[in-house]
Amino acid sequence: MKKIGVFTSGGDSPGMNACIRAVVRAGIYHKLEVIGIMRGYEGLMESDFKAMPSHAVSDIIQRGGTVLKTARSSRFMTDEGMEIAASNLKQEGIEALVAIGGDGTFRGAEELERKHGVKVIGLPGTIDNDLVGTDFTIGYDTAINTVVQAVDKIRDTATSHDRLFFVEVMGRDSGLIAMRSGIAVGAEAILVPEYKTYLEKVVNILERGWQRKKSSSIVIVAEGDQSGGAFELAKKVQERFNNYDTRVSVLGHLQRGGSPTCMDRVLASRLGVAAVEALLKGRSGCMVGIIDKELVYTPFTQAVKHTQQINPNLMRIAEILSL
Ligand code: F6P
Repeated sequence: MKKIGVFTSGGDSPGMNACIRAVVRAGIYHKLEVIGIMRGYEGLMESDFKAMPSHAVSDIIQRGGTVLKTARSSRFMTDEGMEIAASNLKQEGIEALVAIGGDGTFRGAEELERKHGVKVIGLPGTIDNDLVGTDFTIGYDTAINTVVQAVDKIRDTATSHDRLFFVEVMGRDSGLIAMRSGIAVGAEAILVPEYKTYLEKVVNILERGWQRKKSSSIVIVAEGDQSGGAFELAKKVQERFNNYDTRVSVLGHLQRGGSPTCMDRVLASRLGVAAVEALLKGRSGCMVGIIDKELVYTPFTQAVKHTQQINPNLMRIAEILSL
């Protein structure tokens, strides 16, 4: 193997640059030429390639976002799109790919390998942490720390005004961002898609706090929760219990940016090196992750479909501590 490509795809996440850096440096260390592919599968179909010498990844480990940019591409999932991509790779002499992204990225990678024989190793780059095959995805730790910093600020004004805040966080269909950040900020209630939360229960928790003279409260709502999100939930709660002056904050895309934490930088670096070395050992068609501190190789067909279940102990802790 002489030449490999690397790209980022799907929603960006903090740590993707650290991962790109690790792939490039490990590739060069192992005497490979590394080509950067811009904007994920879109750039692959347009031969939007960029040579990546070692200095191309200097001074990026600390930066959020992705220097290779990213995109979501439905066009790539067509037969024609995939054929164009495969022939561009052949023309450029790229023998294998490292794909940094989420479940959608791995669905495309799995087909590209199965139908066109392109060797691909996937790395879990998404803030959602919704991939089986790794304890944590690249960007998750930074995202939950961003939520904690934001909600700590919201708590300052909530306590000053004796207000109840509903704060909506990202995660698509996963409640993992809400779960850990909710515990870390001492939320009175945490609503996640994995568990049905009854309006009655939220009202009871808030009433109990009111009885205990809690002058303000924070409720964390995962965007994918069945309640329909923070605005919807706030409206329903207020109809049943309007003792508090209530406000809503949707944290949105600030959870996707920011300088990656040490945890994400180290995770990204470990996985980037592992991806290159897996390709050199003839591995492909799988995502590399870390479970219980060990490298794990999960076939795309498995890493793609599942979402991690929320640890019931975390739910129990959240309930106990919201007294
Ligand atoms: O998958 C990452 C993610 O941030 C989800 O948590 C969120 O629902 C989605 O991307 C937002 O997508 P977009 O950036 O296209 O608005």
